[in-house]
Amino acid sequence: MWGLGVGQRRLSAVPTSSANARASWRRRASQPDHLSSNDGTHEPVMAPEVVRLLAPDRGGVFLDGTVGDGGHAEAILRAGAEARVLAVDKDSQALERARARLATYSERVAFEHGDYADAGELFDLGEGALAGVLLDLGVSSHQIDSSERGFSFRPGVPLDMRMAGQGEEPTAADLLATLSADELTTIFRAYGEERRARRLASEIVRRRRVAPLRTSDDLRDALTSVWGRPLAPADLARVFQALRIAVNRELESVERGLPRLRDLLAPGGRFVVLAYHSLEDRQVKREFRDWSRDCVCPPELPVCRCRGRRLGRELTRGPLRPDPGEVAGNPRARSARLRAWERGE
Ligand SMILES: C[S@@+](CC[C@H](N)C(=O)[O-])C[C@H]1O[C@@H](n2cnc3c(N)ncnc32)[C@H](O)[C@@H]1O
Repeated sequence: MWGLGVGQRRLSAVPTSSANARASWRRRASQPDHLSSNDGTHEPVMAPEVVRLLAPDRGGVFLDGTVGDGGHAEAILRAGAEARVLAVDKDSQALERARARLATYSERVAFEHGDYADAGELFDLGEGALAGVLLDLGVSSHQIDSSERGFSFRPGVPLDMRMAGQGEEPTAADLLATLSADELTTIFRAYGEERRARRLASEIVRRRRVAPLRTSDDLRDALTSVWGRPLAPADLARVFQALRIAVNRELESVERGLPRLRDLLAPGGRFVVLAYHSLEDRQVKREFRDWSRDCVCPPELPVCRCRGRRLGRELTRGPLRPDPGEVAGNPRARSARLRAWERGE
């Protein structure tokens, strides 16, 4: 039963195109994913920009699809006395933290556990229900700092990495135990832009014949033997990030969620996304561009067969970046890219 479950999910954990490997922020890859605020509380990234772009002072219903510790949600509720927030997270621990943080706003906030891509069904929302949508993608500082969740590459950490926590979903250790060398290569290459992806995958397959890789130390040992030199944090960050993206099928949620959430926006409704790695940011950029064009037919088509009208406009020309002061205080903000879009009439 368990084996079948893992097997069924195997293909979806693997990117379909290794061409994605070319896309990456080299700077991002060099930054350990675990840099976070000092006390484990997640610092909301670029909160003033998020609030300015969502404009909750207009009132209405705002979806925070990745509520995490509730920092952005709190900023939205504070800035908009008439605003209500629908909060989603696939991590039930995060929801509990957000619920506690937002207790003073309990009249204006509702919570659901699940994937943001399913927010319409979770809250039974119709088209045009929302004044704004926020997605702050990736992991929270709290997740990274909780060793038992397995996101960190500190010594002795179990290779779990499931944002949804305990459950039937395969862990990072399950993927390392069951995927083929080709599938592992594709994950390390596409999601981590790892040049030694194939050698690393082969080493993992060789080692797991002797004993399963269960902890960060097991993976670190495999990496060290392939690298042949002491590992830099950036080496570990690339490989751990790749596994995390595969475990949580993060790109699938973005691909499925963006158009679905767009359709829930009312005219004038705003969509704000913070991405922390290039693969997600590229998807956001491509979607926001397409939705802002009159025609998205392939150039070889003689007549337009698509919707033939733009759905809205981009509010950000290129991605907004955090200023150096924010990055100094919250290193996790370093790799953030913020893009915003507004639905037309
Ligand atoms: C960067 S944190 C959000 C932090 C939040 N904005 C704050 O101010 O505290 C990202 C959160 O998104 C959640 N998450 C990631 N992918 C998700 C998905 N597909 N659906 C729902 N929640 C998701 C994670 O569990 C995590 O809690």
